[in-house]
Amino acid sequence: MEIGIIGGGGVAQTFGAALRGLGHTVTLGIRNATLAELDKPRQGGVPLAEWQQKTGGKVASMADAAKATLLVNATQGEHSIAALTSAGADNLAGKVLIDLANALDYTRGFPPALNQAYSGHTSLGEQIQGAFPQTRVVKAFNTIAAAVMVNPGLIKGDHDLFIAGNDAAAKAEVTDLARALGWSTVLDMGDITAARGTESLLPFWLTLMRAGGPIVNLHVQR
Ligand SMILES: NC(=O)c1ccc[n+]([C@@H]2O[C@H](COP(=O)([O-])OP(=O)(O)OC[C@H]3O[C@@H](n4cnc5c(N)ncnc54)[C@H](OP(=O)(O)O)[C@@H]3O)[C@@H](O)[C@H]2O)c1
Repeated sequence: MEIGIIGGGGVAQTFGAALRGLGHTVTLGIRNATLAELDKPRQGGVPLAEWQQKTGGKVASMADAAKATLLVNATQGEHSIAALTSAGADNLAGKVLIDLANALDYTRGFPPALNQAYSGHTSLGEQIQGAFPQTRVVKAFNTIAAAVMVNPGLIKGDHDLFIAGNDAAAKAEVTDLARALGWSTVLDMGDITAARGTESLLPFWLTLMRAGGPIVNLHVQR
């Protein structure tokens, strides 16, 4: 499948490399896809020229990446709607968009809080769905570290991937992709408003991470 990941940071690189490993065609989309930009160091990842060489993936503009069949939002949450707007609503229309982003407020340093513009009686996932009504948004993968997103076996025992979205067929497609990445437990939390809950896990996840490192996840038992 052709997969376009909007974003070129550490998460986009890790997710994209894993999808390349599964045999997909992957294009990362960034704002300024010049040769000079591709050579720059990237926090949490490698220069994008090196990523291309190592993975066989491509780097292009956000609009070019969004021409793929299945899309992933891996941008900073507070800039996601701007990034997806520059990717082009027409390119996004009708497609599944996995939204793995979180909108965090670092104005008081680390650990960040939830960004109030995207929390409470709303969420980033809902705002993206509202801004792009023709797009089939599935909130997923935002509650775990990038290394775990693509390798759940890093954590022993049962642990869960939470997904949310309005379109059942889109969620089934994302579930299949997650299974291919090794996820055995994918919990459908409901429509896109359930992103309020999964995005709200972030402060707790950061607490867990500070207590014992980022290779950690939750498992729900009833
Ligand atoms: N770190 C984790 O393990 C983890 C786990 C779960 C979820 N997440 C979420 O995954 C997302 C990506 O994380 P990351 O660490 O890879 O992020 P990042 O490197 O800080 O940024 C990702 C992308 O955001 C784009 N961006 C930044 N400012 C922008 C703006 N003003 N307009 C348009 N685009 C802008 C950048 O585009 P350019 O390339 O053009 O600069 C960049 O490629 C975040 O939402 C994060 O919360 C992270």
